[in-house]
Amino acid sequence: MSSHQESKTDLKKITTRTIRSKKGKEKITSLTAYDYPTASWCDEAHLDLILVGDSLGNVIYGEKSTLPVTMDMMLAHTRAVSRGVKHALLIADMPFLSYQTSIPEAIHNAGRFLKEAGAEGVKLEGGAEMEDTILAITRAGIPVMAHIGLTPQSVHAMGGYRTQGKTPSERDVLMNSAKAVERAGAFCVVLECVEETLAKEITEALSIPTIGIGSGNSCDGQILVLHDLLGLTEGHAPKFVRPTGAFRGPIIESIKAYANRTREGV
Ligand code: KIV
Repeated sequence: MSSHQESKTDLKKITTRTIRSKKGKEKITSLTAYDYPTASWCDEAHLDLILVGDSLGNVIYGEKSTLPVTMDMMLAHTRAVSRGVKHALLIADMPFLSYQTSIPEAIHNAGRFLKEAGAEGVKLEGGAEMEDTILAITRAGIPVMAHIGLTPQSVHAMGGYRTQGKTPSERDVLMNSAKAVERAGAFCVVLECVEETLAKEITEALSIPTIGIGSGNSCDGQILVLHDLLGLTEGHAPKFVRPTGAFRGPIIESIKAYANRTREGV
């Protein structure tokens, strides 16, 4: 294939329909991005989906959890990301308390991401308990990416960050949740740290794609936090990340080289 043909095919805009149509045919590729440069790197690498994750609370703001993240923070970062995205589907994460309090508030806040920040859909955490909310948002014409399993906004209720779906009752709850978000109209669902055999069962049971993170290779696609993948974060990334870069060290060395050059006056 010539480079001209390649770029023509690759430049096709990814929509929620594209994502749905990949199920069972082609794996879906996605990463988080939080600003203009990281978004343009992901887009130029031809990822299918870019998520402005509320993980920016940890990765960008140095918080211990995603709980302090606000609508204002998410809107500002989504706007910046949208300027770097031409090809991928752009999804914004709804932060804690922006959709749990009432359905009208959830629709209003979801709509702000499309109206004010250039997102093409939203992601929210929760399964069966969020069925009515997902239904209402999708009925307002806003695509929803669901998120079940380890849901970091419920870290205190879950008693920490751990693999979900290890007991028969947890497995039933998760399978029911997966079916509920599909019924409610979600176009895909993130399975975070779901026990691998259950992730496979859910993937086989649903007609919408599953996007896994720490849930094994059977999902219809994968998502990771970009900074974990590139080795930009301090300390060890979770084992499932398998970083493809180790850029934190070289960046610090580059800064040191500049500082030394400056100190020496050369
Ligand atoms: O906030 C986030 O980055 C996420 C993904 C890791 C799924 O929810």
